[in-house]
Amino acid sequence: MSRIKILSEHLANQIAAGEVIERPASVVKELLENAIDAGAGQVQIEVEGSGTKLIRVVDDGTGMGPDDALLCLERHATSKLTEAPGSAGSRLDAIKSLGFRGEAIPSIASVARMTITTRSANEVLGTRVEVRYGRLLKVHETGCNRGTVLEVRDLFGNLPARKKFLKSSRTELFHIEEIIKNYALAHYRIGITYSHNGSRVLACSAGSDSLKDRVRTLYAGNRDESLIVVGDPEKMWTPAEGINVCGFLLSPDNSFGATARLKLFVNNRAVKDRMMAHAVREGLSGFLMKGRSAAGVIFVTVPYETVDVNVHPTKQEIRFLQPNRVHEQISAAVRKGMAAYQQDAQRFIFGSKKRRPDAGPGQAVPGIPLQAGQTKRLPRTNSGPAPAAGAEIPATGEGPAPFSPASFFSQVGEGKRATAGEPLPSYGEAPADAAALPGIEALEPIGQFMDLYLLCEARRAGETFLVVIDQHAAHERILFEKLKAQFASREITSQKLLFPKLLELNPEYRETLAANREELQRLGLYIEEFGGASSVVKAVPAVLSHLDPEEIVNGILLDFVTPDCSGGGRRRGDATRLDDILSSMACRAAVKAGQGLEKLEIQELLKLMQESSAFTHCPHGRPVVRLFSAADIKKWFHRT
Ligand SMILES: Nc1ncnc2c1ncn2[C@@H]1O[C@H](COP(=O)(O)OP(=O)(O)OP(=O)(O)O)[C@@H](O)[C@H]1O
Ligand SMILES: [Mg+2]
Repeated sequence: MSRIKILSEHLANQIAAGEVIERPASVVKELLENAIDAGAGQVQIEVEGSGTKLIRVVDDGTGMGPDDALLCLERHATSKLTEAPGSAGSRLDAIKSLGFRGEAIPSIASVARMTITTRSANEVLGTRVEVRYGRLLKVHETGCNRGTVLEVRDLFGNLPARKKFLKSSRTELFHIEEIIKNYALAHYRIGITYSHNGSRVLACSAGSDSLKDRVRTLYAGNRDESLIVVGDPEKMWTPAEGINVCGFLLSPDNSFGATARLKLFVNNRAVKDRMMAHAVREGLSGFLMKGRSAAGVIFVTVPYETVDVNVHPTKQEIRFLQPNRVHEQISAAVRKGMAAYQQDAQRFIFGSKKRRPDAGPGQAVPGIPLQAGQTKRLPRTNSGPAPAAGAEIPATGEGPAPFSPASFFSQVGEGKRATAGEPLPSYGEAPADAAALPGIEALEPIGQFMDLYLLCEARRAGETFLVVIDQHAAHERILFEKLKAQFASREITSQKLLFPKLLELNPEYRETLAANREELQRLGLYIEEFGGASSVVKAVPAVLSHLDPEEIVNGILLDFVTPDCSGGGRRRGDATRLDDILSSMACRAAVKAGQGLEKLEIQELLKLMQESSAFTHCPHGRPVVRLFSAADIKKWFHRT
């Protein structure tokens, strides 16, 4: 007698359920997928207890005839995967539906009490099937709406060990909600409601929602978060059109902090994929704060045959045929979205003839979170009233003045770079005709608070805002963008030292110097060996030329040898390392916190912000600008 026996169907189903149905949320996922695959326009989800007591999913999809209502309980019974006539096998390589294994219903039925009430359009009467832990109890005709009602009670009632491993009710409900949100995002035209113990938790209406509405409802808690638009998310893409990336990301300093999540979808299927998450992060590099992750929703469509969704029983893991191409496209799309977001923010702050229609007052401003309902002390200003719009702004005085940040603001301006050999700093250099600065009249400086925050008044469509700018963060971003552009075009502008500086370097730095001479020159640092432990510094990056050459060299070399501290021990990529070096150069060169600025200098900084390709966040992801609407400020003082 052979020792090997074929498992009973019941046991096989239970084993399959172990993989497919891990927790109540897995049931919700499978039933929702089935409803969506059945073409439902409206899906209603009701949960009782932590999901083990009852999960009911009601849909208005195609429903099933009496035969299918029974057949769906059989393992590997699916209407979704057909063997192509004449082909050797099934079309597993091009799966379009969410389901394809024919495993979910029998798996759930083997570990719960299940009732299926269903009717297809062809039938007058529907079918009701009752199953108890895998055993068919009853089948009978019943009057019901077209579509399917699937009820799952006493989940894992026959598997006490499995039930014991479930987490707290709160955790299980959290997972259920996450699953529902994922599908409500991926299928934003479908109406989805979710209630728990009879109370409504989520309600998304059918048809009327745009993806943006859905993101706001489900993801930003209906708050007026400003969103970075990636690609064209309002267009429905089909995989036949090739690789496409779209979605909405929350501003890097969104108010959700570390709890905000990044949701990823491939061909409308919610997935977990490190490569994709990495690509989004890379697209946002230079904007994300350390420890913060990207948050929002990204949809990627790829031709069906270039992705394998059959990697794991839960179908959340996928494999791309060309992961590098997908990575590239994602980061490029995110970078482009961020650039557009910067332009929108710039237009809003500095004014432009062409304003986005939805950037009106009272709405979230792209790039600048509106501080609603916050009570803050009105800052003291240390300067007189702002000059009237368009008025001549007087120069700061004649002759050499104390070292002024305006001088190094102007160093980064085109055509105002200090020429090699010229001693620095240059003193009291007046900025270009301030009255002629385009758009600045819309943003009138009031003064400086704590020698750190620039206070300005902005007018937009009859509304007034108080604009608060972190001078260091703002200048840091401007310099960072400038340095990046200079580096990309050839090399960073350097400043020859009038008196070359002799330095003693430690062996590690000497080694780094020898190994990276070319890259250091591209960074604007010209340094040569002078025999023994000595090196001579001949030129330094122009933006840093007001600093001590020894400080500059040590700073840059330190950045070269420092291992990554942001990636949890992972090595930094070349791009990230360069960004780190450039951002610390920008940080050292930028106007400091605690540095008093004259109104002219504030004007100059605002002008540079206006001209910079990005300005909303410093390279470390801290916000640069905050807006307080006059309406909010009035509310603080109970003036309505
Ligand atoms: N809500 C529903 N409306 C209409 N038909 C349904 C519904 N739920 C299930 N079915 C039918 O029952 C079949 C079996 O469903 P089941 O979820 O077990 O497998 P599947 O969806 O085909 O694949 P997978 O196991 O990957 O989910 C489906 O192929 C479908 O024909
Ligand atoms: Mg299914």
